Amino acid sequence: MRGDACHDANGCVMQVPGALRFESMRLTEALGPAVKGGINHFLQKAPGPIRRTFSKPMSVYIMITRRCNLRCAMCGIPYDIRPELTVDQWKAILDDVAAFAGGYCKIQFSGGEPLIYEGFLDVLEHAVKRGLLPGFCTNATVINEENAQRIMTMGLENVNVSLDGIGAVHDRIRGEESFERTDKGIRLLIAAREKSGSYTPLILKTCLMGTNAADVPNLIAYTREVGADGLLFQPMEIRSGDWGDNEELFRAEGDAIEKAIGLLIEDKQKSGIVMNGLRHLELFREYFKDPEGDHPGRQQCTVGDTGMMIHCDGAMALCVELGNIGGATETPPSVAWRSKEAEVMRQRIHACQKGCLQTCYARKSLLDKARALLFLLRGKRTARTGPGA
Ligand SMILES: C[S@@+](CC[C@H](N)C(=O)[O-])C[C@H]1O[C@@H](n2cnc3c(N)ncnc32)[C@H](O)[C@@H]1O
Ligand code: SF4
Ligand code: SF4
Repeated sequence: MRGDACHDANGCVMQVPGALRFESMRLTEALGPAVKGGINHFLQKAPGPIRRTFSKPMSVYIMITRRCNLRCAMCGIPYDIRPELTVDQWKAILDDVAAFAGGYCKIQFSGGEPLIYEGFLDVLEHAVKRGLLPGFCTNATVINEENAQRIMTMGLENVNVSLDGIGAVHDRIRGEESFERTDKGIRLLIAAREKSGSYTPLILKTCLMGTNAADVPNLIAYTREVGADGLLFQPMEIRSGDWGDNEELFRAEGDAIEKAIGLLIEDKQKSGIVMNGLRHLELFREYFKDPEGDHPGRQQCTVGDTGMMIHCDGAMALCVELGNIGGATETPPSVAWRSKEAEVMRQRIHACQKGCLQTCYARKSLLDKARALLFLLRGKRTARTGPGA
């Protein structure tokens, strides 16, 4: 069994729904980052010394707190509270990342529940001001009119809301009345976006497991009805700790998982509301048959070549499972990225046979990256009726 690593979507498997409309100014603004990002993509794949000297992270995943107001049945994070950095410490870290990789580096905040970290919205705004591309994942239970307005107008790249089923299915996984609260939060975020005329993608995110596999059609229908931009699936990881384990949730009755994956692939091919890439969805089948086994045939893991993560206490990692490479308050992330520790960790990552399928780890092709960029550049919400990309 593995630990309680937190995995989250960073938009890496985003697809372009429907026809795209570009405003020429937005396109011009985007060209610089797109070119820089494209060059960086090749540098990350270059031989060791070139990669070490020139590549930069395309994403930084920040777990800003482990505290949470919910106790979801599959998640052990809030049972292991650790010290937290202050708002000013996070701002300094973001300044370093911005000076190093600003313009195209995505900062994905998660937790715990990031919205209960005091000053979280200030940290987000700071990242926007510094030219980084921030987004976050939330359970949306503490969203109100006021914070919804602030969140949807500050210029974020994405807001992901976790939704693990509709009504009782979500409540069974995430606790009593949690669906009602999350549903309200989602609607407030969408209303705030519409009221202000801003464009911030709102993505619903489901942790797929036996318990909710049969609810996939309802999740797809809800995503359309509520007006969210897409639905992203992450296969549940089996975990255990002092808090218990989540294995029971993983198991599905009969062929429920197989059917759910078939539906996701079908929806993807029809309309593109499901945002995972096709290859990613196909790998789900293999994963659910053997969630804890090695998958040596799968492509080499490159997680530490493309991004890094920073825990709430400042500990930096390339793969959350393989340990830390230093502390961000002592060693700036820009220095840690090119350190000997990071290179040694990358060798271990390249040799790892685990083949993780978490959305933050799913390997991004240049096409995936271009699609994600196009998705984020849409000047306005566009019809999702075109063929799925
Ligand atoms: C840990 S949560 C933190 C953000 C926020 N509290 C939320 O629930 O969206 C980030 C994501 O990890 C997912 N997650 C939690 N436990 C998981 C597990 N055992 N396997 C896979 N994903 C998991 C959640 O569903 C959520 O989408
Ligand atoms: S809301 Fe998020 S962090 Fe909190 S227990 Fe649930 S999955 Fe874990
Ligand atoms: S496959 Fe990659 S992300 Fe998964 S445990 Fe191995 S090194 Fe880490």
